[in-house]
Amino acid sequence: MTLFAVEPLQSTLEYAALPPEELRERILLRKEALNAVILGHNYQRIEIQDVSDYLGDSLGLSQEAAGTSADVIVFCGVHFMAETAKVLSPNKTILMPDLKAGCPMADFVTGDALRRLKSVHPDAAVVTYVNSTAEVKAESDICCTSSNAVRVVESIPANQPIIFVPDRNLARYVEEKTGRDNIIAWDGYCYVHDDMVLEELDRARAENPGAKFVVHPEARKDLLDQADFVTSTSGMVDLAEEHDALIIGTERGLVDRLKQRYPLKTLIPLSGAAICGNMKMNTLAKLAWSLDHGQHEIMLDEEIRLGAERALLRMLELSDGWRGPTEEEAELELAGLRPTGCGCS
Ligand code: 13P
Ligand code: SF4
Repeated sequence: MTLFAVEPLQSTLEYAALPPEELRERILLRKEALNAVILGHNYQRIEIQDVSDYLGDSLGLSQEAAGTSADVIVFCGVHFMAETAKVLSPNKTILMPDLKAGCPMADFVTGDALRRLKSVHPDAAVVTYVNSTAEVKAESDICCTSSNAVRVVESIPANQPIIFVPDRNLARYVEEKTGRDNIIAWDGYCYVHDDMVLEELDRARAENPGAKFVVHPEARKDLLDQADFVTSTSGMVDLAEEHDALIIGTERGLVDRLKQRYPLKTLIPLSGAAICGNMKMNTLAKLAWSLDHGQHEIMLDEEIRLGAERALLRMLELSDGWRGPTEEEAELELAGLRPTGCGCS
């Protein structure tokens, strides 16, 4: 083991001055020493994706966090994702490279505000998108992600009203898919997806005739209405494997990664401006610092954790719990050719 790999530096600035190869080496060595696992969301910077043990969407990441045997989870995503890992794995150390990497959509609703709405609709079930704080999850009956929202809402009796927080676009999509007319939607949204517009699709289609269009359900209804597929980020990874030409309506970090993976395919970002600055706050330098210093550790009030766990476990039960790798994926993992679990490698 070389000296630089064991001697922590002080500030993230000092780490940022190191060459990427040295950062990667530090990360891998420290990870092994701590029995740590790096979970990365599909929107992470490519260099973070490259050192992640598991890449995926919110559902896959929460399933992985619940099932991992590692002692330490370093979460490269946004705050609610790391918090979810702590809720599901309370005895593990959960680290985030940058505590300020939050999801603005999650900030649309607070525990207090949700309690007030619940008091106006005491008979309603509360379905909460995982892009929310643990406190809000603790006030909910069940959570959902972009890949299981329809299934979760279908599990609520048809005549029972539903308070759906915080994404109005996902709420509207689920309402349409389930044919319900009793969803009370919070007025929150994701600035990255809500800013995508139909004109961008018209342009992309004119330039790429024949390309199918896939969009994330956080986008607006007029775009969803035009889509060949509406799915989560990992759903998009699967579609890119199956199709030669796709216009992809989501954060462009995912599209850049897919283009790198399939250089001969036509994979077009719906919007070149669709960048989640919050996800991009995690850097290789901050990740190396995080592992070397055991920071920033996520801590939760136990009462809130238990409430959030109840709502998350109810969702995971409906989503077949933790999904292990398929036989083919396990073989690739064994050969070191893909990160563990499902998601893009
Ligand atoms: P996915 O669960 O589809 O990865 O979505 C998470 C997210 O934050 C999308 O903006
Ligand atoms: Fe939140 Fe939108 Fe960023 Fe996803 S893309 S983490 S919903 S701000």
